[in-house]
Amino acid sequence: MALPSTPKSVSHPSSSTFPAESLTPLIGLTYTSSDITFYLNAKRVTLNNPNPHWTLLDYIRAQPTLKGTKLGCGEGGCGACTVVLQTRSTRQRNSIVHRAINACLFPLVGVDGKHIITIEGIGNVENPHPLQERIAKLHGSQCGFCTPGIVMSLYALVRNSWDQERKKFVLSEKDIESEGHLDGNLCRCTGYKPILEAAKTFVKEDLEGEVAEDGEEGYGGKVDEERELVQISNRICGRRGGCCQDPQFSCPTTPATSVTTTIPFAKLSDSVSLPARVDTTKKLQESSVISGATYAKPIKSREDRHNAMDIKTESAVDTLIPASDHGIPQIKFKPYTPCSELIFPPALWKYESKPLCYGNEEKIWFRPTTLDQLVELKSVYPSAKLVCGATEVQVEVRFKHSDYSVAVYIADIPELRETSVPSGPALQRSTHILIAANMPLTELEEMCKDVYSKIGRRAMAFEALRKQIRYFGGRQVRNVASLAGNIATASPISDANPILTAVDASIIVRSKSRGAITIPFEGIPTAYRTTCLPADAIITYIRIPLIPVRWKGVIKAYKQAKRKEDDVAIVNAAFQIRLDEKYDLVEDIRLIYGGMAQTTKEASKTRKSLLGKKWFGTESLEAGLSAICQDFDLQLSVPGGMAHYRKALALSLFFRFWHESMAELGLSGVGTEAIEEIQRRISSGVRDDYNPHQQRIVGKQIPQLSALKQCTGEAEFIDDIPKQDRELFGGLVISSKAHAKLINVNWTPALEMPGVIGYVDKSSISKDANIWGSVHKDEPFFADGEVFYHGQVIGMVYAETALEARAAARAVKVEYEELTAIRTIDEAIEAKSFFKHSKELKKGAAIHGRMEEVFEECDRPLTGTTRIGGQEHFYLETNSALVIPHGEDGSMEVWSSTQNTMETQEFVSQVTGVPSSRINARVKRMGGAFGGKESRSVPFACYVAIAAKKEKRPMRIMLTRDEDMLLTGQRHPFQARWKVGVSTEGKIIALDVDLYNNAGFSQDMSGAVMDRCMTHIDSCYEIPNVFLRGYVCKTNLHSNTAFRGFGAPQGMYFTETIMSNIAETLNIDIDELRRKNLYKVGDRTPFFQKIDDDWHIPALRHQTILSSDYEARKKAVADFNASKFNRFKKRGISLIPTKFGLSFATALHLNQGAAYVKIYHDGSILLHHSGTEMGQGLYTKMAQVAAQELGVELDAIFTPESQTYQIANASPTAASSGSDLNGMAVKDACSILNERLRPYRDKLGKDAMMKDVAHAAYLDRVNLAANGFYKVPRIGYEWGCTDADVAKPMYYYFTQGVGCSEVELDLLTGGHVVRRTDLVMDVGHSINPAIDYGQIEGAFVQGMGLFTTEESLWNSSTSQLRTCGTGTYKIPTFSSIPEVFNVSLLRHDTLIPLKTSPSHSSQGKNPEPPKSWKSLGTINSSKGIGEPPLFLGATVFFALREAVLAARKMNGVKEPLVLDSPATAERLRLAVEDEIVKMTKVGKGTGELMGVA
Ligand SMILES: Cc1cc2nc3c(=O)[nH]c(=O)nc-3n(C[C@H](O)[C@H](O)[C@H](O)COP(=O)(O)OP(=O)(O)OC[C@H]3O[C@@H](n4cnc5c(N)ncnc54)[C@H](O)[C@@H]3O)c2cc1C
Ligand code: FES
Ligand code: FES
Repeated sequence: MALPSTPKSVSHPSSSTFPAESLTPLIGLTYTSSDITFYLNAKRVTLNNPNPHWTLLDYIRAQPTLKGTKLGCGEGGCGACTVVLQTRSTRQRNSIVHRAINACLFPLVGVDGKHIITIEGIGNVENPHPLQERIAKLHGSQCGFCTPGIVMSLYALVRNSWDQERKKFVLSEKDIESEGHLDGNLCRCTGYKPILEAAKTFVKEDLEGEVAEDGEEGYGGKVDEERELVQISNRICGRRGGCCQDPQFSCPTTPATSVTTTIPFAKLSDSVSLPARVDTTKKLQESSVISGATYAKPIKSREDRHNAMDIKTESAVDTLIPASDHGIPQIKFKPYTPCSELIFPPALWKYESKPLCYGNEEKIWFRPTTLDQLVELKSVYPSAKLVCGATEVQVEVRFKHSDYSVAVYIADIPELRETSVPSGPALQRSTHILIAANMPLTELEEMCKDVYSKIGRRAMAFEALRKQIRYFGGRQVRNVASLAGNIATASPISDANPILTAVDASIIVRSKSRGAITIPFEGIPTAYRTTCLPADAIITYIRIPLIPVRWKGVIKAYKQAKRKEDDVAIVNAAFQIRLDEKYDLVEDIRLIYGGMAQTTKEASKTRKSLLGKKWFGTESLEAGLSAICQDFDLQLSVPGGMAHYRKALALSLFFRFWHESMAELGLSGVGTEAIEEIQRRISSGVRDDYNPHQQRIVGKQIPQLSALKQCTGEAEFIDDIPKQDRELFGGLVISSKAHAKLINVNWTPALEMPGVIGYVDKSSISKDANIWGSVHKDEPFFADGEVFYHGQVIGMVYAETALEARAAARAVKVEYEELTAIRTIDEAIEAKSFFKHSKELKKGAAIHGRMEEVFEECDRPLTGTTRIGGQEHFYLETNSALVIPHGEDGSMEVWSSTQNTMETQEFVSQVTGVPSSRINARVKRMGGAFGGKESRSVPFACYVAIAAKKEKRPMRIMLTRDEDMLLTGQRHPFQARWKVGVSTEGKIIALDVDLYNNAGFSQDMSGAVMDRCMTHIDSCYEIPNVFLRGYVCKTNLHSNTAFRGFGAPQGMYFTETIMSNIAETLNIDIDELRRKNLYKVGDRTPFFQKIDDDWHIPALRHQTILSSDYEARKKAVADFNASKFNRFKKRGISLIPTKFGLSFATALHLNQGAAYVKIYHDGSILLHHSGTEMGQGLYTKMAQVAAQELGVELDAIFTPESQTYQIANASPTAASSGSDLNGMAVKDACSILNERLRPYRDKLGKDAMMKDVAHAAYLDRVNLAANGFYKVPRIGYEWGCTDADVAKPMYYYFTQGVGCSEVELDLLTGGHVVRRTDLVMDVGHSINPAIDYGQIEGAFVQGMGLFTTEESLWNSSTSQLRTCGTGTYKIPTFSSIPEVFNVSLLRHDTLIPLKTSPSHSSQGKNPEPPKSWKSLGTINSSKGIGEPPLFLGATVFFALREAVLAARKMNGVKEPLVLDSPATAERLRLAVEDEIVKMTKVGKGTGELMGVA
C-alpha cells in the first residue's frame, strides 16, 4: 500500500508532535488500507486513495453519467443532493435500512462497505421508477432541479415502509407529511402540493399494505418497522416483501399495465365540490391517447416512402400524455413492484470493514473500526478532527474554510454508534440509559419513542429529547448527525444541550491518558462553541437518567425558529420541575435556555426565586416571568439580533411550561389553551381539472415535456454538461466592503496555488467594454478603483478545478480605504441618494394640482408609512455558465443559465470584441429563475468568456449558494409614505403616495420595477384622485432586480395595507370596503387604461366566496377568536382580489416574439422560439401550439434549447409574456407553413400524415422552414399623458384572480399555520391547465414566503448580507403550504352549486355556456399566469393581520397596528402587545442585523 504523505502544515498549533512522525507507525501497523470499497447503484467500486477533500457529492458529480444528484446549497439545507444509503442495520442483524443523506456533507470515506443509490440507480426515462413516473405525471416537477433529491427522499421512505413484524407495507399519509421525511427538501417552483399528491398514490394502491390509518403508527412508529429482513440463508434477494421467492409478494412475470388509482373526491364546501381528477380505473380511451408521430424511419426518396414503416415508437412524451374524459385527465400509473427494486449487494453482507487511511500532503483521512483504535489514534495525535455526520464539520470546512489536516471518520465504530437499551423488567429497573454518542439522531428519535412507549413518565427526558429531535435539521441531517457532534460543537442554539443540562445528564468520555471518565453535562459548554473537553477526549456515551417512579415533576422542551421545519432555534428551552410530596412547593427547578447567551444558559436567578415557593398559583408564574427578565437582560446589540423577541420568547416558553406542568401534574384550575402548540393537519385540496375549452392538444393537461427526464435525473443543467477537454473553472474575487476605494489588489499569491492557471480583471478588457447594464449602462463588470457593495466582483481566478479556483480566489489580497455606505431607504432619503428616474402618475385633481383641496373635503384623511422587505429568488440552480471557444473565427458557444440570451450574447460580444453573430448564447433549461436570471446572469457568462478567449480553453463557472445570494440582487425592498382620503361610507376619494425602492448600487431594472409598482398600486380599486411619485434609491447593496411580480406585489400590498387601515379606523367591514371600491367596466386606472369587458373580478370574488364558504368561515373565525378558550391562539381570514397587467410596460420594444419552425421530410418538426424554459412549462405550451396548428401529434415537435444562432434578438423571457409573445410567433410560422402545405393536403387528403405531406412538398422544392413573428398591438402608454382619449393602454390585458386564506396564530410564539387557501384565477382559455395550476400554486407559495418567513437581513456595521444560505434564509417548505389548498380557474360566469350539477363532467355539465373573453387577442385567448397569482400570497399576511388584531383587541391595545412585511414570527409575536411583550421591551434603534426597506 502506498502510504499517504502526512500534511506539511498542521493547522492545530497546540500539537507538539509533527504528524509525519507520530502517525506513520500507526499507518504502517493498523491503517494498512487506502482503498474505499462500496457499491454504487449495484456496481462495485473501489477507490484507491481518492481526493481527501471530496465529499460524496464531489465524487458523484465527477462521474460523467451521474449528474442527477445536484448541488443546491452545499450546507445540507435544500436536499438537492439527496442520495440513499442502503446499509446494514446496526440494531437488527440481517436487516437493511435506507437512509436519505445529503451527499454535499457526507464525507466520501463514509461510504466504505455501503451501497449508495443515486437517482440514476432507480430508473430512467425508458424504465422509470414509479415514483419518478408519478411525480412527472402529476406535475410535481417544474424546473426539475430539486426533483431528483425529492425522489430520493421519497424512495427511502417507500423502501423503509416494510413492516417486518406484520409482513406488510405500512405507509400512511401521516408518514409522508408529518414525520419529517421531506423537511430537508426544498422546491421553489411547485408549491409542493403535486409532489405530495404523487407520494400519496403509494399509500393505498401499490403497497397494498395494511394502510396505516392516520393516528396509527406507521413508518417510524416502531423500532422494527423500517427494517428489511433479508434471509441470506435462503438466498432470498433481499427486496423487502418483493422477493420472487416470497409467496406473499410474488413478482409478476408480466408487468401490470396500470394501477387503480383514485384520488378521492374533495369537498370544497357544503355546497360545492369538485370531481376526482385522477381515476385510473377507467381504461384509456384509444382516441384520446396521443399516438406519436410516424417518423420512426426517415424517408429519403419517393420509393422509400412506400416502404417506410408507419410504426409508432412509444416515446417518453406520449407515455406521459393523459387520456381525457370530458376534459378531465385520466392518468395511468405504472404499478409499484417492490421485487424490481435494487437489492443490498450480497457481497456487502460479508464485508469486513478494515481500518482505512488515505490522503495527500494537505489532508489525511483515517477510518478506525474500533473504539480502541480511535483512542490510540487520538493519543498519538490529539488534534485529529473527529467526524461523525459531518453536519457541523463539513459546514465549517465549506464556509469557514477550516482546514482539518487530519480527520477521523468515526460514524461506523460500533461502540460509538450502537445503543443497547435494556428490555422488559431490566428497563423498568434501570435508573438511566446510556446512549451511544454517535448514534444517528433518526435512530435516537425512534429509541426515545420506544422507551417512552414502554415506561411512560419515567422516560420524560426521552420524550422531551424526541420532541426536539423531530424538528432538528432535515431528515437527511438527522439520518447522520449525532448527539456527540452536537455536544462537542457547543452551539448556543444547540437543541440537545438545554435538555441534557435540565435533566442532569452526564457524558462519558474516553482517552488513553485518563481512561473512561464521567463528566456532568452541565459544565461542558464553557463559552461560545467551546467545551471543557480535553483535546484527546472522545465522547463515548451520554447518560440520561430515567426518573423514579413516584417522582413528582415534569420535564418539557420547546423550540421556536423562523420556520418550524429544518431551522435552527431562535430560542429553545428545556425545563424540569420537581415538587414536594404534596405537589405544593418547588423542590427543584431547572430552566435552561439556548439562544439567550453565548452558550446554553440556566435562568439561575429565576431558579433561586422559585425554589421552595408554592408552584400552583399565579405568584410563581409572575415571579418566574419577572426573574427571567433579570436573568436575560438582553440589549439591542445582542449577537444575532432579535433582542426583544428572544426575551419575549424566553418568557412565553416559561409561561407555556408553567401551564403544561400544571396540566400534567393534575393541578386544577388552569386552562390547557396555553399549552397546545399549533399542529398541522395532513394537507389536501383540489384543482378543478375540468376544461370546457379543451381542443385536440391545446387545452389539455399535459405534463411538462421534460418532466420525466427531470425525475430521472437525465435532464441536463449547465453544470451537468460533460466536462470539456482542457476545461477550466472560474472562482470570483469579491469585495468584502460595502463602499471603499480599492488601494491594492494583489493576486500573485493566488497564482502560486495548486491548479491555478490565470486571473482576469478590469485590466483584461477595455474601459468601455467594462461597463454594462440592462437598461442603463452604469455598472462595471469588474470593479474599477472603487467598490460599491459587499460582494462586488473584483476579478476572477481560474484553475483546473472548482475547489482550486475558489481556494485561490480567497488568496487574492485586497486593500481598501473604507467610505460611508448607504444601506436603507431611510438613509438614502436622508442623503437624497436617488437614481434619475422620478416618475409621477396623476389622475383627477392631481392633474390640476388640487389634491390638497380634495383631501380637505374628505371625511377622513389617513396617513402612514408602510414597508416591505425584499426577497431572494432562491432558484435551486445557482447562476452558472460554460463558454466553449471555437478554434476559428473567434466564435464561441456560451451556455448560460439565463432568461436572456440576447443580452448574454450582446455583452459577451462587447467584452470579447467578437461580433454577436459569432456568439451562440444557449440555454436548454434553467433550474428556476423567477426574474433573477433576466439580467443578473449576464456578467458570469462574460467573466468566463473573457478568460476563455484569453486561454483559448473552455471555461466554466457555477456560483456557490452564498455567492449567488450575496452578488446577484433580490426583489426590491419598498417603502410607501401615503395619505388617503376616504368618505365615512368607505369610498376612497384620493390617494397620494411617495414610493421608494431600494435599487442597490446600480439601476438594473429598478426604474421599470418602480413603474410597475406605481401602475399596480390601484390594485382592483377605483380611486378618482391619485398622485403617485416614484423614487429609486441608490444604495451600497447588491443591485436589486426583476423578481416574479416586478414591483406589482409591493404596490398591491401597500393598497391592501391602506385598506386595512381604513377599515380599522372607520370600523367598517374590510370586505365591504373592498367591494365598495372595486373597479367597474369603463372605469379608468391612474394611467387611464379603460377597464374593459373582460373585467371578471366581481365573478371571481363571487365564486371564491361561494367555493371557500367564506361567509360561514368568517363567522367561525370571529367565534373562535371571541371564545375564552382561545386566549393564546387567534385566527384570521382574508379574501383579496388581484389584477396584473400583461406587457413589458415601459420597454415597448421588448413586446415582440419570434419563432423558427422547420418541418423535416420525415414529418418531425424542430421548433425554436425566443422564449427560455425555467420550469414554467413554456416549451411544452409552445409545442402544443405548434402541434395543434400543424395538425400533428405532440411528440412530432422537438425544442432542444433556446439559442441565438436560431433566434436573433430574443426578448428576455419575463413579465409573464412567454406564451403570449412566442405562442403568436409560433402560430405565425405554422400558418406560413400550413399555407405552403395546403396544396399537398388538398391532394393527399385531410387525414394525410405529415410525413407524406412534407415529403411531397419537399420534392416540389417547397421551403419547409418558416420564421414567425409577433408584436403586441395596441399598447404604448407614454408616461405623463393624462388625456384619457389619447392615452394608449399600458397593458395588453389584465390577468385577474381572487384568493382566500385562513390562518391560525400562536400568540405565545408568533408561529402560525395556514389552515386553508382557495384561489380562483382567470387565465382565459388555458393552453395547458396543468401547467397553469402549477404556476398558480407555485407563485402563491412563493408569495406566501415573501410575506411571511423570507427576511433578508444585513449586518448593520459591515453592511454584509447575513441571510445568504439555507441556514439563515427560510423559504416555505413542504409543511408551510396551506393544509387545504384549492385552486380553480374561471370557466363560467357563475359557479353552479354541486346540488344542481353534481360534477362538471361525468354527472352533468354546467348548463351555462363556457365563458368567453371578449377583448382578449392572445394566443388561444389564454392569459399570462407566471406572476399574477404571487400577490395572493398576501392573503396569508392579511389573515395574520386579522389574527393579530383580534389578539390586540383582547389585550386592550388601542394604537393602530403597524405590521410591515414580512410578517415573521418575530413581528407577529411582538405585534400581539401582551403583558409579556411589554415586560420585555428593549431600547429602540438598530441591532446587529437590519432590514433595508
Ligand atoms: C442543515 C443543518 C441543520 C441543522 N439543524 C440543527 C438543529 O435544528 N438543531 C441543532 O442543534 N443543530 C442543528 N444543526 C447542527 C448539527 O447538525 C448538529 O450539531 C449535529 O448534532 C452535529 O452532529 P454530527 O455528528 O454531524 O457532528 P460532526 O459535524 O461530525 O462533528 C461536530 C463536532 O463534534 C465532534 N465530535 C463528533 N463526535 C464526537 C465524539 N464522539 N467525541 C468527541 N467529539 C466528537 C467533531 O470533532 C466536531 O468537532 C444543523 C446542521 C445542518 C447542516
Ligand atoms: S446541496 Fe446538499 S443539501 Fe443543498
Ligand atoms: S421544480 Fe422544484 S425547484 Fe424547480
